[in-house]
Amino acid sequence: MSKTVDAPEATPEVFESPSFTFNWRDLAGWQADGIQFSTSSNEAVKMYDALLHQAIYHYNDGQLGGFSGTTAKMTEADPDFAMGKIFGLGLDCFATNPKKNEEPRKKLIDFSAKAKNQNLTKYEADHLRAAELLAIEDYWGAMEQFQEVLKTYPKDPYSLQMAYFLALTIGETPRLYDIPASVVKYYDPSTPFYGHVFGKICFGEGERGNYDASEIAGRKALDHFPLDNWAHHALAHNFEESGRALQGRNFLLNSARDWTTGTTFSHHIWWHTALFHVQLGEYESALQLYDDKVGPMTLKDGGNFPLSDGSSLLMRLHLEGVNIGDRANEQAKGWVKHNDDFVSLFYDGHNSFCSLLAGDAAANQKLLENMREFVNGDRLGWNKDVTTNVGIPLVEGITHFMDGEYTEAVEKMAPIMPELQKKIQGSKAQKDIFRQILLHAAVKSNTKQNLDLVMDILNNKLVESKLKEHTPLNQRFLDRMVAVHETQG
Ligand SMILES: [Fe+2]
Repeated sequence: MSKTVDAPEATPEVFESPSFTFNWRDLAGWQADGIQFSTSSNEAVKMYDALLHQAIYHYNDGQLGGFSGTTAKMTEADPDFAMGKIFGLGLDCFATNPKKNEEPRKKLIDFSAKAKNQNLTKYEADHLRAAELLAIEDYWGAMEQFQEVLKTYPKDPYSLQMAYFLALTIGETPRLYDIPASVVKYYDPSTPFYGHVFGKICFGEGERGNYDASEIAGRKALDHFPLDNWAHHALAHNFEESGRALQGRNFLLNSARDWTTGTTFSHHIWWHTALFHVQLGEYESALQLYDDKVGPMTLKDGGNFPLSDGSSLLMRLHLEGVNIGDRANEQAKGWVKHNDDFVSLFYDGHNSFCSLLAGDAAANQKLLENMREFVNGDRLGWNKDVTTNVGIPLVEGITHFMDGEYTEAVEKMAPIMPELQKKIQGSKAQKDIFRQILLHAAVKSNTKQNLDLVMDILNNKLVESKLKEHTPLNQRFLDRMVAVHETQG
C-alpha cells in the first residue's frame, strides 16, 4: 500500500548520546545501598563516589579536574574523611615496590595507629584491613579481605573492583566469574554499576571458555551503559579467545567512539584491536595502529601496564616475521625505570624481551641481576613467590631465544610454562605472548622432541579454550611448521 502525500512522517525516536554523567550518592544514597561512613559530609562521600566511577569506568571527569581534582575536592570537603584516606593510601601503596615507595606506607601505618581512637564504621575498618594487606604486597590476603567486605556490603563497588582486579593480578581465573556472580542478585537497573557487573561476568565467562554466556552478559552491560569500556574490552577478549578475530576487529572499530570516550583504558583496547589485525594477518594495519595509537599512548603514560601492551604488540609482530624497525628502542627506554620494581613477573618478562628487541643486552642483564637480588631479598608476597618459582628461568629462556639459542630456550621455558600460565598476572590473551615465544623457540630448535612439544601445546590450548578449531594465528603457525617439516622430510 502506497503512502498518501499528506500522511505525517513517523516521529523518529530520539536517543540521547551517552555521557559520563552520574548522580553521586550522598550519605543517604550510600545508606540506601547499605554503606555507612563516619563523616557527616555529604560532599566528601559524593566525591568518593565520583572517584569510584572514574576508576571503574576508566575516565577523567573534566568538571571535577579528573582523579586528582576530585581527590582534592573530597579532602577539602572533609580533611579527616576516613574512607577517603583509606582509599587513597591503599591505592598509593598498591603495585609499588615498598623500598621505592615508603611514604604512603608510613602514612597508612600512622593512620592505622590513630584510627583506633576514631569511630570508624565497620565498612571503613574492613577497608583499612584490606589497604594494610595491599601495602605489604599480600595480594592473596587483600583479595580475600575485599571478598569478605562484599559479603556484608554486596553493593560496594570498590570491594568488587579490587577483589576482581586482584583475582586477575594473581591468576585466580575462576574468581573472575565467581566474584561478580556472587553479588549480581543484589543489583537492579537503578543500582550504580548494574550493567558493569555484567561486564565483569562477561570477562569471567569468556576466560573460562563459556563464550555464549559471556557475550550475552557483555551485550547486557552495553545496553545498560554504552560507554562501559570494560564491557567492550570483555567482549574483545571473548572474540579473541574464541577465534572470532574478524568479528572482534569489526566490533571494536565500529564502537571505538564509545570505548574511547573514557580515555584511561583505551590504549589497551587499541592493543586488542591490533591483536585482531595480527590474528588476521593484517600486519600493516597492526603496525599502523602501533604508530598511531598504541605506541604514542603507552610511551606517554610510561607505566608498566601500558608499556607491556606496546612491547607485547611489537614482539608479536616480530615473531610473525614483520620488520618493526627501531620501534622497540623507545619502549625499552621506558622500561629502565621499572628495572627494580618487581611488582609483577608479567611486566618483567615484557621488560626482558623488549630490551633485547631493542638490542640492549646490558639492560636485560641488569634486570636479571636485580631479579636475583629480589628473589634473595626480604620482600614478601604473591609476586615474590611467583618470581622465585619461575622468574629466573623465564628471563633466561627469553634471553636464549633472542640470542638464537633455541634448544636452550626450550629447556628453560618448557618446564615452567604450565605454572607460568596459571600463576602470573593477566588475561589469557596477555599471557599468551610467553607461550608464543616458547612455540617459536621449539620450532626453530627443529628437533623431533620439540616439534612434538609444539603439537602438545597447541592441542592443549584447543582443549583449554573449548574450541574445535585453532585460532587463525595458531593455525597459520601450525601450517608453517608442517610445511617446513615436510620440506625437510
Ligand atoms: Fe585485555
